[in-house]
Amino acid sequence: MSALLEVRGLAKRFGSLRALDGVDLDVAGGSLTGLIGPNGAGKSTAFACIAGAEKPSAGSVCFRGREIAGTAYHRVAALGIGRTYQLVQTFADMTVLEAVTTGALLRRPRLRDAVAHAEEVLAFVGLSEKRYRLGRALTIADKKRLEVARALATEPALLLLDEVMAGLTPAECRDAVDLLRRILARGVTVLMVEHVMEVLMPIAEHVVVIAAGKTIFSGTAADAVRDAAVLAAYLGSPLEHGEIAGHAP
Ligand SMILES: Nc1ncnc2c1ncn2[C@@H]1O[C@H](COP(=O)(O)OP(=O)(O)OP(=O)(O)O)[C@@H](O)[C@H]1O
Ligand SMILES: [Mg+2]
Repeated sequence: MSALLEVRGLAKRFGSLRALDGVDLDVAGGSLTGLIGPNGAGKSTAFACIAGAEKPSAGSVCFRGREIAGTAYHRVAALGIGRTYQLVQTFADMTVLEAVTTGALLRRPRLRDAVAHAEEVLAFVGLSEKRYRLGRALTIADKKRLEVARALATEPALLLLDEVMAGLTPAECRDAVDLLRRILARGVTVLMVEHVMEVLMPIAEHVVVIAAGKTIFSGTAADAVRDAAVLAAYLGSPLEHGEIAGHAP
């Protein structure tokens, strides 16, 4: 069976900087795949190129058997790729319900239908009670949850999550993992950037490691933390506290 997402030779230059310089990755339908790599490796840029927020300089992004490299963001969303942002969007002056409704409007142009779907998604992620709060009034954990809810409301087949657990307490991380499992159970495929290996190990079938814009490893999380090229990319530092050392959580 071919992968839901197949990325080959993805490259992105910003002026003279080669932010991506040969990223290959496969995401199997129904799986959770982890994307890791040192700070500045190009993880968020890879997400931006897959989601159509940035145009790749070269390479192929094949989603459901269709080439989408260079396709505009809103079209990619309509094809079924949803994403969250590393720097959470604040939705400061919108209520939680309004923010999620903006996602739901992608597939439900009638406002009443979009609001009804947004309510369902809020119940699913556990934000129903806060639906009339303003985005700015939320905790970090709830802001991240809101980002996930807004992306889910677009009904993606593939969800790209960029560090949705960063800055969360251990208890909040456990809740987030529980939510991830429920998202997978709904049939949504997940590709996530996550630095804490303890989080990824039990949930990621597959891990892809990029360093300096190139894929350097693809395999299980257990093998990734023993791989010589991966360890070298993290400056050979020992893995501590379940996290790849040298990385701010
Ligand atoms: N819009 C941009 N313009 C110029 N350079 C950029 C832009 N976006 C990213 N970069 C650069 O591209 C490289 C890759 O950045 P990116 O944010 O993709 O890394 P990352 O792996 O997500 O890092 P982190 O773990 O810190 O989030 C970095 O050198 C970054 O400074
Ligand atoms: Mg990033």
